[in-house]
This record gives sequence, structure tokens and C-alpha cells, in this order.
Amino acid sequence: MRRRLKRIGVLTSGGDAPGMNAAIRSVVRKAVYEGLYVTGILRGYAGLIDGDTRPLDERSVADIIHRGGTILETARSDRFRTPEGQDEAYARLEEAGIDGLVVIGGEGSLRGALALAERGVAVAGVPGSIDNDIPETEYSIGFDTAVDTALDAIERLRDTALSHSRVFLVEVMGRDTGFIALAAGLAGGAEAILVPEIGFDLEELCRGILASYKKGKRHSVIVVAEGAASAVELGAKVRERTGLDTRVTVLGHVQRGGRPTGFDRTLASQMGAAAVDLLLAGDPGNMTAWRSGRVSAVPLPEVVTRSKEIDLKLYELARVLAI
Ligand code: F6P
Repeated sequence: MRRRLKRIGVLTSGGDAPGMNAAIRSVVRKAVYEGLYVTGILRGYAGLIDGDTRPLDERSVADIIHRGGTILETARSDRFRTPEGQDEAYARLEEAGIDGLVVIGGEGSLRGALALAERGVAVAGVPGSIDNDIPETEYSIGFDTAVDTALDAIERLRDTALSHSRVFLVEVMGRDTGFIALAAGLAGGAEAILVPEIGFDLEELCRGILASYKKGKRHSVIVVAEGAASAVELGAKVRERTGLDTRVTVLGHVQRGGRPTGFDRTLASQMGAAAVDLLLAGDPGNMTAWRSGRVSAVPLPEVVTRSKEIDLKLYELARVLAI
């Protein structure tokens, strides 16, 4: 017989993402509204194993909806990847009287949530990662903001590329996927977008840059997903092969911070509350997902066993519009 839900825990795990605070705020206020107690777990699964927790109420999450990062902090935990670590985490949840757990994080974090679910913990996952590489949801929290951040940088770099007739390579995050690169590259009018899902030929890339140059487009911005190539190494090869003045900017962790966009705040607010609803309804073991313009629920086993592909039509459109 499932215990009536009295207390839920919430943690953020993996790489932080803008909008995670909006999700935490939603989980806490929705839970308090429904008469539940909330325990904040610091530093993801590492903090769970350490019993690093603090009580949260509606005031604890005041004035955070617009802040990047996560007030619960986050960490990656090798210990939690072991069965012993997962057993310790389970024991901490029992000791803390936590009846249900909301996990906000990327694919690895959601795998951890499933491991706890398999031990009988009532969990609800919320997709949070700037990479947007989490299957079964069109968007993960943080992606829209990271794309906007990358786009802002691309436009700034285009200004100086134009002024100096330069080739600029801009490396964006995304781990081993190209979702950020494709979205920011299309929106930024990049002359080329390199993603790990689709190989590229260096000679063809250089021929394309030179052909544009000869047609009068005397500057180029090339967006490089970090999983496709090192923009620094590639930039040196482009300079050597084309003879053009070439510069490289690696955006790195600036894509992880900053004020979440309105979309990320509304996405996070809906997903946080939906996660609490899933636990209240006695329907654990799911992830909240954004599909066809609304939040739905997807079983965690489907999330962690499937993959997510980039939209090849979007990739082709970006190529066509770069002529
Ligand atoms: O998963 C989010 C992400 O920002 C990736 O895009 C990137 O490759 C990775 O995290 C960087 O990890 P860390 O913050 O541990 O350096």
C-alpha cells in the first residue's frame, strides 16, 4: 500500500541549465499549495548520499525565477553510479521521510532517477540540460536560453568579421550532439554549421568559404558543435588552406549561465508543477515532456533507452539559406 504523499524531495543534477531555478520554484510552490512538505537536496546525487538537505517552503524560492544556475547546486557523482551508492541514496531518502523525489537534470540524471525508481522510490524526472539531447521531449530546460546566448555571440562576432573581412569559427556546446549548433547557426545565418551527427569534408568546407569570398561575401561565420571538431584546430587548417584571415571563439560555459528566457521559464514552471502532479496521482517513474505545445509524461525507461536525432530538414534549410 503506497504511503500517502507527505514530503517530497527535489534535486538538480548534471550540468546546470538556465531555468532550473524556475523549475525548483514551481516544484516547491506547487507542492506547498497541495499541502506537502519539501526537502531540498543539495549537490545532486552526491548531496543525496551525503544527506546534504535543507527544508524548502514558498519563501525559500522567492526571486529566483529569473536567475540562471540552481540554488540547490549540482554535481556529478561517480559514487551514485555504483549499486552501493544507490543503496545509500535510498537509505537517505527513507531516513529523511521523503515519499517522492523530483529529479531535474540531463539524461544521466534521469538514468539515476530510474535506478531509484527500480528500488521502489516514487520519482518524477524533469528534463534539464542546455544540450536538448534528452529523448522523447522536444525541449529540455535551458536549451532556448543557451541558443539565445550563442546567437548573441554569433551576431557580435559577425560584426567584427564583416569589419575585417574575416572567417570566424564559433564553437558551441552540446556534448556529442548538434542541437545548439543547428538552432544557433540557423538563427544566426551561419555560412556553415558543423554537427557531430553529420560529418564534413575539410576541403569542401574550404572550397565553399573561398567560393563565397569570390562571390563578394568577404566574411564568414561558421558554427562548430564541440562534438564535431575543435574549432581551434579546424581554424588553423582553414587559415592554412584558404589563406584567409581566420579567427576562433570558443563560447564554452557562458552558454550555461544567464537569465532564462521567457520560454525556458514557462517550460520549467509547467514541468515542475506537472512533476508534483505525477507524484500526487501515484504515477511515478515518468519524465515530464514537451510535445506538440504541451506538457505530457513519458515513462523513464523509454527516455533512457531511446535516442534523439537532429532535424535533418532544418539542417538542409540552413545550408540552402546560407548561399
Ligand atoms: O551537458 C551540458 C554541458 O554543458 C555540455 O554541453 C558540455 O560538453 C558539458 O556540459 C561540460 O561539462 P562540465 O560543465 O563538467 O565542464
